[in-house]
Amino acid sequence: MADNVILIGFMGVGKGRTARALAAKTGYFTLDTDDLIETMVNMKIRKIFENRGEKHFRKLEQHTANWMRKNVSNTIISTGGGFFKVKKLGEGDKVVYLHCPLKKIMKEIEEAPNAAKKIRKRPLLQDMEKARILYSERLPGYRKVADIEVNVDGLTGEEVADIIIRKLKL
Ligand code: S3P
Repeated sequence: MADNVILIGFMGVGKGRTARALAAKTGYFTLDTDDLIETMVNMKIRKIFENRGEKHFRKLEQHTANWMRKNVSNTIISTGGGFFKVKKLGEGDKVVYLHCPLKKIMKEIEEAPNAAKKIRKRPLLQDMEKARILYSERLPGYRKVADIEVNVDGLTGEEVADIIIRKLKL
């Protein structure tokens, strides 16, 4: 099973909206790894972190990656910001890293009408200093596993989707 398009990148960079725009433009189906996990354990991500801890959440991500590898093909997959660390990510798939400077990501989140909710649902965005460290630690890792990188700064989901369609010839 392969030929998926896997979107990776930091929290709030727009993986979900890009996946939905890509799906609408190409006719592919789309899945989100956080949604799969929340459904699998019938618990919100925030609660999983609170009740079971981050380590358990990472195990659920690996479990999801293993399931996808066996069962999902020709699908646009948006992922949680730490999903790129799973083993055997994207064998036979195309991995797309969506890049944006952290300052811009945070500005966009803070200016969103539902800013409080966007922050509250993300346990790793509670402390800005920690988020900054996480961003710089992860940046090389995103780039290492990606087949292509798209700079999404200032672009809409539609515009990003058009770039991906062109680059991957979807
Ligand atoms: C995480 C990102 C979140 C979610 C969880 C952990 C991370 O997804 O998977 O809170 O480690 O960066 P988004 O990238 O959709 O916010």
